Amino acid sequence: MTYSDDRATMIEFKDVHKYYGDYHALRGINGTIKAGEFFSLLGPSGCGKTTLLRTIAGFEDISSGVIMIDGKDMAGVAANARPTNMVFQSYAIFPHMSVAENVGFGLRKDPRSKEEKARAVAEALEMVGLKGYGNRAAHALSGGQRQRVALARALILKPKVLLLDEPLSALDKKMREHMQVELIKLQRQVGITFILVTHDQEEALVMSDRIAVMFEGEIAQLADPETLYRRPATKKVADFIGTMNFVPATILSETGNAVEVDAKGLGRVMLDIDQAPAKAGESPVVGLRPETLTLLYDDQKAPERETDGVIDEVIYFGDMTYYDVYLGGTDVEVRLSMRNVPGRPVLDVGEKVRVAWSPSALVLFR
Ligand SMILES: Nc1ncnc2c1ncn2[C@@H]1O[C@H](COP(=O)(O)OP(=O)(O)OP(=O)(O)O)[C@@H](O)[C@H]1O
Ligand SMILES: [Mg+2]
Repeated sequence: MTYSDDRATMIEFKDVHKYYGDYHALRGINGTIKAGEFFSLLGPSGCGKTTLLRTIAGFEDISSGVIMIDGKDMAGVAANARPTNMVFQSYAIFPHMSVAENVGFGLRKDPRSKEEKARAVAEALEMVGLKGYGNRAAHALSGGQRQRVALARALILKPKVLLLDEPLSALDKKMREHMQVELIKLQRQVGITFILVTHDQEEALVMSDRIAVMFEGEIAQLADPETLYRRPATKKVADFIGTMNFVPATILSETGNAVEVDAKGLGRVMLDIDQAPAKAGESPVVGLRPETLTLLYDDQKAPERETDGVIDEVIYFGDMTYYDVYLGGTDVEVRLSMRNVPGRPVLDVGEKVRVAWSPSALVLFR
């Protein structure tokens, strides 16, 4: 992780609410975004990601609360007076202009000389990997190249914060993955704060120093990718990020820093208190990621715990196989993933297996 907490604060939200008429779109947003951080807003459609981004940019007023950028309260500060710039989903470049004219568009009123501006344009194009493309017609570019022109056009204005609203969603999978890496490199190179909106959890995990996971106008968890994946704060976050098995559990006892639970199919297990985020409501469940469960072959011994199982489903992926397995003679089914290696057969439905697991990989939701 490149993220470190000693960076200066670039953006701070204090109890931000936003109503569209009666509709409560942002419901008390709190948190900080650091200078130079690659930050993502992640959540399902309609959860308020674009709304939050637009309130940072100043395209949308907030109903109450405070947004500070670089130490200044943004109340009443117009969009064009904020140190932010936004790249939109539908990369709105001007098709009738050249690439250079597109990139230089924001410098129209800049007092610098023509030559200096041309140099700035060339620099911005080089930054996004489009050196020498200045004279091309913008309409003669691929989707990925247009996206880069839009980035260069935003970067040339040297914002402190670059706001990106699903900038890659219109690209095909290959190009999107390529641009993800390009964006990470670019952000490291220019060092400015990037705030990316995405509903793609993989994209957020790959790209971000930290991620705010949003549901229904609220931040459910704000953390680095590894913490989000390994220690999701709620069942809903766990379910949204990657695949998580949920096993019904009973809480047996609780001391200062440990919780003993009986997880159906797995048995009794002691968990650290930090594996058990407190959350009142539903009946307790234990969460396990598929890659933390392992099939044992022949006389292999489990390093920690093991449980008998029966294979119910086999899903072959080439490099991996997913097995759905009933645990310990119960109706509890979990999905586990095994890397396929030469000499290790893919097993069949109905086979009896032994499953190794580690108590430290469990998360209790209660
Ligand atoms: N101008 C508006 N007037 C009224 N309601 C709005 C307006 N803009 C957004 N909303 C509502 O606010 C909620 C949040 O919208 P927002 O665009 O922020 O969602 P989002 O998380 O960006 O979703 P998506 O992933 O689909 O882009 C939605 O229910 C939306 O219908
Ligand atoms: Mg949106």
